[in-house]
Amino acid sequence: MEPQDDSTGLTELRTPRLLMRAWREEDKKPFAAMNADPQVMQYFPEVLQEPESDALVERLRDQHAQYGYTVWALQVLESEHGSADFVGFTGLSHPSFDLPFEHSEPCVEVGWRLSPPWWGMGLASEAARAAITYGFDVLCLEEIVSFTTPSNEASWRVMERIGMHRAEEFDHPRAQAWDWWQRHLLYRMSPNDPRP
Ligand SMILES: CC(C)(COP(=O)(O)OP(=O)(O)OC[C@H]1O[C@@H](n2cnc3c(N)ncnc32)[C@H](O)[C@@H]1OP(=O)(O)O)[C@@H](O)C(=O)NCCC(=O)NCCS
Repeated sequence: MEPQDDSTGLTELRTPRLLMRAWREEDKKPFAAMNADPQVMQYFPEVLQEPESDALVERLRDQHAQYGYTVWALQVLESEHGSADFVGFTGLSHPSFDLPFEHSEPCVEVGWRLSPPWWGMGLASEAARAAITYGFDVLCLEEIVSFTTPSNEASWRVMERIGMHRAEEFDHPRAQAWDWWQRHLLYRMSPNDPRP
């Protein structure tokens, strides 16, 4: 993981196959297509419409400028499947709901969302390891959490692969009791936990 500042002073991270970089205007279209894809969004309450997706990009940009980290846009520099300017995101953010579990202040979450042609190649894990290393070794965070529904095995497998441990379950405060996505698994990681 090599952190550096881009030409506008925003942090970007490099891994063997990826550049985790600031969001660009031209990422909005492919990101909106991802967020409208039911396969990508199958473990979320609903797909996003283009204006919601664009607004999310703006929020992520603001967060990057304010805190020095974000869920970075992922660019594949080289891989067994070639390169690509934009394949999704991975990185650090602040949950936007009232948290029903104990947490450090601020609560920092590691998260990921990739375009399906790029699934199953270990890219989410590679990017997540870089984000966690940056969070603990550069930002000196006390804890990083992650959460998902029990059915999203691909996501909680990334959590386990990078060394997070399953801590507890919680009910998402925005879900109703009858919503299939109400129950969530919470994973935690501390700076001294082993990083496989
Ligand atoms: C979750 C996601 C980012 C995983 O990306 P990825 O690059 O394929 O992940 P990796 O290749 O690093 O694989 C991580 C692990 O998940 C496993 N996995 C991948 N897809 C899986 C699936 N559909 N079902 C079960 N396990 C799966 C891999 O085998 C690997 O497990 P291993 O450590 O036992 O080998 C990707 O599936 C995605 O973008 N999904 C849609 C968005 C989403 O749900 N984001 C998370 C919200 S909490």
